[in-house]
Amino acid sequence: MSNPYQEAIENSNIVSKTDINGIITFVNDEFCKISGYSYDELIGQNHNIVRHPDVSTSNFESLWKTILSKKPFKATVKNLSKDGSTVYLNTTITPILDKDENIIEFIAIRYDVTAEVELKKHLEIKEKELEQLNLTLEQKVIEQTKQLQDLNKTLEQRVQEEIKKNEEKQKMLFWQSRMASLGQMLGNIAHQWRQPLTELNLTLFNMKKAFLNQNEKKMDELYKESKELILNMSSTIEDFSNFFNPQKEKKSFEIKEAVNEALMLLRKVIENESINLQIDVPINYKVLGVSNELSQVIINLIQNSKDAFILNNIKNKRITITLKEEDILDKKYSMLEISDNAGGINKENIDKIFEPYFTTKHKSQGTGLGLFMSKMIIEKSLDGQLTHRNTKDGSIFTIKLVL
Ligand SMILES: Nc1ncnc2c1ncn2[C@@H]1O[C@H](COP(=O)(O)OP(=O)(O)O)[C@@H](O)[C@H]1O
Ligand SMILES: [Mg+2]
Repeated sequence: MSNPYQEAIENSNIVSKTDINGIITFVNDEFCKISGYSYDELIGQNHNIVRHPDVSTSNFESLWKTILSKKPFKATVKNLSKDGSTVYLNTTITPILDKDENIIEFIAIRYDVTAEVELKKHLEIKEKELEQLNLTLEQKVIEQTKQLQDLNKTLEQRVQEEIKKNEEKQKMLFWQSRMASLGQMLGNIAHQWRQPLTELNLTLFNMKKAFLNQNEKKMDELYKESKELILNMSSTIEDFSNFFNPQKEKKSFEIKEAVNEALMLLRKVIENESINLQIDVPINYKVLGVSNELSQVIINLIQNSKDAFILNNIKNKRITITLKEEDILDKKYSMLEISDNAGGINKENIDKIFEPYFTTKHKSQGTGLGLFMSKMIIEKSLDGQLTHRNTKDGSIFTIKLVL
């Protein structure tokens, strides 16, 4: 080992030589350094002194098979140093032949690739971790998606429940509104009966007088008068109960008739409050729906005007009912307007008047359901619109219906 090539190789590599049986015959300084053994410890030892227990027998068999067949063996080999540490060496073992092509010895030249191998291993671990992370991430996304889906489902269910609750609330509102208008109607009946009852009282008194005077003719006259009064009273009851009979099927009806019906039922109230009524409602305006329902709305509106007259102490009470036709985009509409001079509605209340239970009246006077109910009837049952606007001295409620 003295020519300059050998020296160059030895300086930069880990070099060893063994005989044909694998017994070490030469090692350079680099070999000693990396294996941790001294030169003397190595010479004469079997080369497997640096064999790592992790390297399988089959690997060695393949190594020996290659070099014994006189071919060079190249591989990265895991070796064990004296202190138990592991080194990775990129190894080339070349069989050296004599002139008869017989193997004399093996020369192994190696260089240290431990750092690269460790780096690679580290990279592999990181890659695995990344893969794992990816996997758990995917899992997490799947879980989150499922949670979201579940949430969606319960949300849907909750929405359904809310809708049902809302429907029940609506039913309740309708029922309460009906009760409220029944109460109002009872008040109207009482109004209408007050006068005939007083008259009946007087007639009975006069009848007693005629009886005592044995005035048969007078008695007969008074009897007929009483009968008429009673007939009148019972017809009032009939009017009201007819009105409240559920007549649900829709048919074409005259708007004027619905107005007349409402005015007939309210005639005593209008008379008692000395309200000046101006009506300009032509005939031949027919709409589809339940006539009583439109009357109900008109009654609600007039009752509200009456309440406002009293509340605001209006002297010359006036209610005007007009019906006009309007063409909007080739469609014919009837505009039924009910206006009063009762002072109008305050700015802060104007957006709330159609809300259920909104009332500015004492709770014995108002339920806050009249306008809500009216709007419902117009929109849902008659497919129209009910709107309000203030005028200079009062309110106009407009009922817009498709003709
Ligand atoms: N013609 C009107 N003039 C003035 N205020 C009105 C008129 N109509 C309705 N209002 C106001 O709207 C509120 C709601 O009316 P409504 O829904 O019929 O309930 P209620 O009559 O039971 O109070 C009334 O309390 C009143 O303040
Ligand atoms: Mg009302």
